[in-house]
Amino acid sequence: MSINKILENNRQWVSDKNAQDPEYFSRLAKGQQPRYLFIGCSDSRVPASGITGTGPGEMFVHRNIANLVVHTDINLLSVLQYAVEVLGVKDIMVVGHYGCGGVAAAAGTKQYGLIDNWLTNIRDVIRIHEQEFLSIENEEQRLRRLVELNVTEQVQNLAKTSIIQNAMRTENPPRLHGLVYDIADGRLKDLQLNGEQPLSGLEHIYATEAPKGADHDSSTYEGKKEDPAQEAAVTEDRLTQKS
Ligand code: CO
Repeated sequence: MSINKILENNRQWVSDKNAQDPEYFSRLAKGQQPRYLFIGCSDSRVPASGITGTGPGEMFVHRNIANLVVHTDINLLSVLQYAVEVLGVKDIMVVGHYGCGGVAAAAGTKQYGLIDNWLTNIRDVIRIHEQEFLSIENEEQRLRRLVELNVTEQVQNLAKTSIIQNAMRTENPPRLHGLVYDIADGRLKDLQLNGEQPLSGLEHIYATEAPKGADHDSSTYEGKKEDPAQEAAVTEDRLTQKS
């Protein structure tokens, strides 16, 4: 498919949408308040909106190879912080998929380049669950289980972040979910992780608290907060400094 075909598809899509609902784009242009945050694999066979039946405006999306939550990934952390603290998403889902090439590569020994370092995060998942992983004799079953274990660990990685820990102490904490998509039949499976207490059993190692009076001290933290007056003042400040 050439880029011209992409542009032609886009023109067709715009005219279809406008025909169905003339207000469609002007409504979306006003802003977003998505309920969901989707963290999925970059795999082209896992279209985030298609498999979840969500349209524009409903889901904030972050994708990377093998749907990893890495604590030094400024991209993921920024998406998470903005989604939770500014947009106020209610449900956060890590979505893995059976047949994941990244997961399969991490289970093997062949190098693919720079990406091998990224995949080390999945080798860490194997290390944590080594006994169970090695006990599964069938290779396909072993990889399917690794996909699930990887999702479970990434949900826990979310729970280890200061962002989620602070959000969990607010009045309306987000729920964390681990899902696996099957590219062979199109179905999403809920791993039924304990989304309200994702750190359960590990609090003594990972739980942290904001210092008293800090922005994220649970007694003062309100989650979503926007002060348009203050924002305007800051903008004016910047303009004055420039001139
Ligand atoms: Co994948």
